[in-house]
Amino acid sequence: MSRHVVCSADELPPGSRRTAFVDGREIALFNVDGRLHALLNRCPHGGARICTGVVTGIAQSSGPGDYRLERHGEFLRCPWHGWEFELATGQSWCDPRTTRLRSYDVKREPGASLVKGPYVAERFPVVIENDYVVVETR
Ligand code: FES
Repeated sequence: MSRHVVCSADELPPGSRRTAFVDGREIALFNVDGRLHALLNRCPHGGARICTGVVTGIAQSSGPGDYRLERHGEFLRCPWHGWEFELATGQSWCDPRTTRLRSYDVKREPGASLVKGPYVAERFPVVIENDYVVVETR
């Protein structure tokens, strides 16, 4: 597994979405009320760019005349034909056994925890002797 920095947290505030290219793949990123989701930006049905879909809940019913929208903000509806996918897993709601939208682990990390580059300036010890500043080289 490799890690990729795709944007600053400020560029993906709650309620927003964006895309990023990672290893040649376009990834759709969502911030739903502070929960981050990353999905391949290609619907498995017909190839629609899923990043333009509607973040929604799922309709539930116990029988005729009874229906309600539940789990608001946990599903993504494809913009082309309306297939619904669970944002957290990419699982298709209509065909969960055979259809899945590829999802990726995504998290927010402080910049200090990211890998440091190999760039280190040459440093020299500095001491003060009788009010003179002395730099030592080796
Ligand atoms: S392309 Fe996504 S549901 Fe058809």
